[in-house]
Amino acid sequence: MELPAPLRQAVDRVLERVPLPELKQAAKTLSDRYRAEVRDGRLHMAQDMAVRAYLATRLPATYAAVRASLDALNEVRLDFTPKTLLDVGAGPGTVLWATTDLWPDLEAAVLFEASAAARKIGEVLAADTITARTVWLAGDVTTDAADLTPADLVTCAYVLDEIVPASLPKMIDRLWQLAKDTLLIIEPGTPAGWQRILAVRAQLIAAGAHLLAPCPHESPCPLNPPDWCHFSRRVARSRLHRLAKDAEVPWEDEKFIYVAASRQPAAVHAARVIAPSRPGSGKVSLKLCGPDGKAGETLFTKRDGEEFRQARRLDWGDLLERNNT
Ligand SMILES: C[S@@+](CC[C@H](N)C(=O)[O-])C[C@H]1O[C@@H](n2cnc3c(N)ncnc32)[C@H](O)[C@@H]1O
Repeated sequence: MELPAPLRQAVDRVLERVPLPELKQAAKTLSDRYRAEVRDGRLHMAQDMAVRAYLATRLPATYAAVRASLDALNEVRLDFTPKTLLDVGAGPGTVLWATTDLWPDLEAAVLFEASAAARKIGEVLAADTITARTVWLAGDVTTDAADLTPADLVTCAYVLDEIVPASLPKMIDRLWQLAKDTLLIIEPGTPAGWQRILAVRAQLIAAGAHLLAPCPHESPCPLNPPDWCHFSRRVARSRLHRLAKDAEVPWEDEKFIYVAASRQPAAVHAARVIAPSRPGSGKVSLKLCGPDGKAGETLFTKRDGEEFRQARRLDWGDLLERNNT
């Protein structure tokens, strides 16, 4: 998956003439802090150069994860066309761009972000292209969310791992109150990210939410550690990205996990492919999570006719439109 051309061009302009040694150092610091899930009271993206490093090394991947998660919720709620967006922990505006790409008629967006440096660069990126009325608000979501206005779609991507765990239940409760229709939370596709999403999932179900995706059911998650639910998107690395990370491979696989919950039920209840498919000669094995709340491998062979042909085309994260696993 690639960034939309106007975003790619805006990012290239912001990164023009950035000194490579400084960008590399900032990319390393950012990556170390994210990997260790450092919570020391300082924002990872407090400095301008850290935001630039994010644009070069993380934005394409988080964009791909957000866009894929939006596609998944859209697939089961084709009637949902949000007019208003509230994005919390907006960073440089990743969700705004992905939402606009899927729903170009978005009318208004509020981007809530603690880092002044991220807000400033996000505004610059969006200035020439985003047509929705966009307001960037400063604040800490754990303490300053009381005055936010509800929106059709509320999102929070790659933020929970920066929040003190004890603050999460109250924060999620507030985000759910603010969601007029749907709340989407996305996290890195690590076992720890999955555990955070499981806690959010349980909290939202208890609050009466309908799950849209990825789970096709509201029963307890059938997976047990060391297994964990996550998805993946292949993302092209720009030349600057490779230079900043001393990376040779021109792509990377972004692993992510998400939960989309709504006040409206999903229109489609179908099993989801929750691991890479395992094709063989005349057969394919899919790990499916089904509407009955069970997960496991299902083997499809030529004898399954049309279902086999459909299964063979499916990818990790896709829906298999039938009613059992
Ligand atoms: C990893 S970035 C994700 C940015 C964007 N959502 C994306 O997916 O690319 C996390 C963002 O959340 C912001 N953030 C972290 N804690 C926050 C808080 N308590 N209140 C508001 N924003 C916060 C950070 O400043 C950072 O910009």
